[in-house]
Parts: sequence; structure tokens; C-alpha cells
Amino acid sequence: MLNTEGQTHLSSPNDLDNFWMPFSANKAFKKDPQLIVKSEGIWHYNHKGETILDGSSGLFCCPLGHTRKEIIDAVHQQMSTNDYVPPFQIGQPLSFEFANVLSRILPEHINHTFFVNSGSESVDTAIKIASAYHWSQGDHQRTRWVSRSRAYHGVNIGGLSLSGMARNRMQFPTTMPNVSHMRHTWTEECRFQPGQPSKGKDLADDLEIIAETYGGHTIAACFVEPIAGSTGVLVPPVGYLEKLRQICDHHGILLVFDEVITGFGRTGQPFASQSFNVTPDILTMAKALTNAAIPMGAVAVKDHIYDTITQKAGNGIDLFHGYTYSAHPAACAAGIATQQVFQKENLLKKAQDLIPIFSKAMHALEDIPAVSDIRSYGLVAGIDVIPDPRGAGIRGGALQAELFKKGLHVKFTADAAIVAPAFVYGEEDIDRLAGLLRETLSTVKV
Ligand SMILES: Cc1ncc(COP(=O)(O)O)c(C=O)c1O
Repeated sequence: MLNTEGQTHLSSPNDLDNFWMPFSANKAFKKDPQLIVKSEGIWHYNHKGETILDGSSGLFCCPLGHTRKEIIDAVHQQMSTNDYVPPFQIGQPLSFEFANVLSRILPEHINHTFFVNSGSESVDTAIKIASAYHWSQGDHQRTRWVSRSRAYHGVNIGGLSLSGMARNRMQFPTTMPNVSHMRHTWTEECRFQPGQPSKGKDLADDLEIIAETYGGHTIAACFVEPIAGSTGVLVPPVGYLEKLRQICDHHGILLVFDEVITGFGRTGQPFASQSFNVTPDILTMAKALTNAAIPMGAVAVKDHIYDTITQKAGNGIDLFHGYTYSAHPAACAAGIATQQVFQKENLLKKAQDLIPIFSKAMHALEDIPAVSDIRSYGLVAGIDVIPDPRGAGIRGGALQAELFKKGLHVKFTADAAIVAPAFVYGEEDIDRLAGLLRETLSTVKV
């Protein structure tokens, strides 16, 4: 049953019992496991020797394709010379080098980067940096946080509190207080629309209403994903992010863009902030930062935020926050190598060239009866399937499994498929991806 070609010692279903899989139906998986034993380029290979096309760049984190030699070599070299250095009070050169590399592609005036180990940590770190910024200015009234329904800001308590996905919160009744949620940006106008919806910018007035209700001077920060990714690719209406920026400026609220999915070329520019021409005060990132070879996240902040917090501290510790593995040498090496591949292979341009081909192929699926909506921007698309009458997510789960059997991995959230090809896809790979989606989604009886 578990033919893993000698790579592991798993030989019976009981051998799967000890590992508690995250965000997974453990019992169902262990009855019918799908183990990936090898990954290369845009392909996975499972334990039955079958080939699976990676249609979501892993979890939107491998835009360069899998097992890139340049990254492996850089990590190997780093691990052989300087495997670990405590990041508190002493340092290692690659963390400074990597922050310099990032500041060349980050939006203007965002030049200071704090490294963490995941997207969830980046969001909770951003909450703490925003708090510390206001505290450093003697502004102790800003204890309210704003985010949006259908937001996903990771799984740590801060990010979970900001998130707007009921199912993710249900088991965890203790969250951060003083969080207000704006409405999400999906409206009927968006249905089957590629790119930014033309209407809906006034949904940003929700922030003004929250400011009027609680006092703008009590709000520390407003967190949004420029494109809400995990709940199915909700693209911001034209003018919406600009309006949020204006309202934040008016009330002294920090604007935080959670670019954990949208960072590193997914929208056709290094960051969505540049695609939409709106600059936040704080920007979180994680996926694609190291092409997922080594876990890493980061928070980048505007110069005045860094200056305010560090000046207040004088020669003492400025931010009482950090992780044992912050700026781990292996992760920095992987991140720098990832950026070198981006440059060498002109991958941003490649992504830009692929966007119209991808968008056309995804939106061509709209005639399938089970498909109720398709949204896209850059190299990410959300395809909604009409839910099974027995409940949300049942059909999505079944379709994910069926696609996997047919040779395509696509991430589903409930009944939305989130498609996000690697930037190294060719046109023929997009055809194959769209073909497999059509073949499977067309079988659904509605
Ligand atoms: C916008 C956003 N923020 C945060 C996270 C959490 O990242 P991680 O799973 O690395 O903790 C995600 C993950 O999908 C995300 O999409």
C-alpha cells in the first residue's frame, strides 16, 4: 500500500498514525493516503509512481518550480559554513544582505525588514510593531484593530483575531479583543470578472464608519490582504485601496498590507502594493520569499516606523520581540538565491507574459454548469463551484481529491479552487491545467 520506493520506512497504514497533519482530515487521509515522494519543476510524483501537475505552486509559495538547484546549493553552502547564529544581539552577514536585497524590490520608503518564520508570525509581528510604534510616540489610546470579513491572516492568535473566516475561529473562542471587521469586497458585480471590479470602492467607507463609531484616534492599524487570497481570490475594486489609504492617513491609522500570498510577482509586480499603486505603512510577506525551500516570513516597515521605535529606545533594545529562528542563515541563503534566480531568469517578465494566457484559460471555464464564479488577477484565480446541497466544502473536498487522482494538485478553500501556476509554466502547461480542470469540473451534476 505504501510503496515509497525505499525512501522511507513507512510500510503499513499504522505508520501514519503518529503524525498529526495540519488543517487536514487526518482519518480520511490515513485511510487513503496521497504521499508526494518527489517534486521537480512544476511536477509532483506520488508514492504510486503517478505524476501530478502542481496547479497552485504548492500553497502559492514555489513560483520558481520545485527543487531549484541554485537554492539547494546556496543552502548547502551556508549550512556547511555557518549553520546557526543566535539572532539576538549578535548577527550573521546574510540577514543584513537579504534585507538589502529586499529593500531594492520593496515599495518606496519601506526599507526595514524584520525576519520571522512564517506568514502567521509575520502578521502577529506586524500587530506588535504597530503597537510599539504608537507606544513609542506616547500614543496609548490606539488599542483597536480593523480587518475584513473573509480575511485570512494566519493561525496565531493575533492573526486569527483579525481573520474573518468563521470556521477557522470556531474551535478557539479566545481571541484578541477590540477587532472590528469591514465588509469583504465581493459583490454581484464581480461575478466572472477578470481583474479589478469597476464598482465597490465605497466599501472602504466601512473603515470611516468604524472610526466614527469608536474614534479614529483609538484605531492602531487596518489590516487587509490587497487581494484576499485564501477565501477565493477577492480582487479589490478600482479605487478601494486608495480610499483605505486616505482614511488611514486622515485618522493616523497604520495601513498594513498582508502580502503573504501577493508578494514576489504573483500580481505581475514584486508586490501588489506596486500593482495597485498604494503604499502601506507595514507589509507582511512569507510565501515565495525562499521559494518555500526553507520556512521564512518577514515584515517590512516604512522608515519612519523603524526610526520612531529605534530612536525611542536610545541604545537599549528597541523591540522586545523576536524568534530563536528569526533570520535563520539557511532561510536567508535560500531567499537570496531565490532573488538571484528571479533576476537571472527574468521571472517577473515571464510572469507578466503568462498573465493574459492564464486569465483567458481560466475564464474560458465559465461555461461549465457547476462553476458559479471565476475571479482573477495576475497569476492567481479563484473558481467557485456550486456547493453540494449537504453543506459547504463537501463538493470542494471531493473535487480536490478527484483532481489529484487525475494528476492535478489545486488548493481548495471550501468550494473555491485557488489556481496559481508557477512562473516557469509554459503555455502548454496552462493548457494542461485548464484541460484537467474542465474535464473534472464538467462531471459535477448540478
Ligand atoms: C494572507 C495570508 N496571511 C497569512 C498567512 C499565514 O501564513 P502561514 O501559513 O505561513 O503561517 C497566509 C497563508 O495562507 C495568508 O494567505
